[in-house]
Amino acid sequence: MDASGKPCRQEAKALAAASCATDMYAQTHQSIIHWYTKNGRHDLPWRLTNDPYKIYLSEVMLQQTQVKTVLERFYYPFLERFPTLESLGSAPLDDVLKMWEGLGYYTRAKNLHRSAQQSQGTLPSTVEALIKLPGIGVNTAHAVAAFAFHQPVPVMEANVKRILCRLHRLEEPTPKSLWSYAEELLDRENSYDYNQAMMDIGSIVCLPKKPLCSSCPLEAICEGREEPELYPLKKKRIIPTREEEVVIYSYDDRIALRQREKRFLHGLWGFYAPEERPCGAEYLAEVVQQYTHFKLKCHIYHYPETMPEQEHYFSLEMIDTLAISKVDEKIIKVLLQLGNKLS
Ligand code: ADE
Repeated sequence: MDASGKPCRQEAKALAAASCATDMYAQTHQSIIHWYTKNGRHDLPWRLTNDPYKIYLSEVMLQQTQVKTVLERFYYPFLERFPTLESLGSAPLDDVLKMWEGLGYYTRAKNLHRSAQQSQGTLPSTVEALIKLPGIGVNTAHAVAAFAFHQPVPVMEANVKRILCRLHRLEEPTPKSLWSYAEELLDRENSYDYNQAMMDIGSIVCLPKKPLCSSCPLEAICEGREEPELYPLKKKRIIPTREEEVVIYSYDDRIALRQREKRFLHGLWGFYAPEERPCGAEYLAEVVQQYTHFKLKCHIYHYPETMPEQEHYFSLEMIDTLAISKVDEKIIKVLLQLGNKLS
């Protein structure tokens, strides 16, 4: 800007380009809003509230979990236990982890808890300030700014990325190119509905396989509409298997657990996994758990009626009150299925 408040040459060029893009997409914006009015998922609870905390919570839960799972099992119980950002911040971390149990990616819960403690009841409203909170990356910051504070910024998640890749025939897009296309397409006049619509179009119409192009409000401008499944390029991932020896110590109908200290599942309660194969223990079974980046294969051993040499022994009722991971839950199930193996 110059001294008289007029935009400088470069700013004027950028403004002209933006207004040109706005004109170019005016028809598409109308189609998107029309589609959303008729087909959008208007009843999702995080779309029926203005409470930034509830919207932030939904975005964190939805980072790596499907809408159906979040809705059916986690969103409501979590909010019942921690109805406000303050109540979350003042709760012990163990209680937060317990409410997150089964949802996975527990770092999300720990960061949510730290964010609640840092923000003292009020979340900031801009992308720049949100991104400084623990666990809020660029995508979540944009989603919270867009949905909780109605900021005219685009959102980016897997469904939206797929739409942008097909629109511009991008096989291997860089984050920079995706954000640039997202900014260009954004409907700044109706950014809230536009962003929610883009997520819904991605999950209902622009499907990974067999997309429903003839129902898509973006079809007219989609460069990839002839062969949408080519974009983005699907990479074949090789998922490694990690093997672990897991030892169950039991004594007097109680099982030994310890709070995990390494990075993986840190803070949750679980079974002992010694570095070396346990000597003289009874082999029980194998339990497998699939994670995003690896498969965990646990070989389960049991030391019945050992003197309580481990620190913490729990009855099954007590274990119910602790936050434990899915794999440890599976191990307990195996134990129970094998009959009276606890003593
Ligand atoms: N995934 C992430 N944010 C979402 C939202 N607001 N609605 C539906 N799915 C989402």
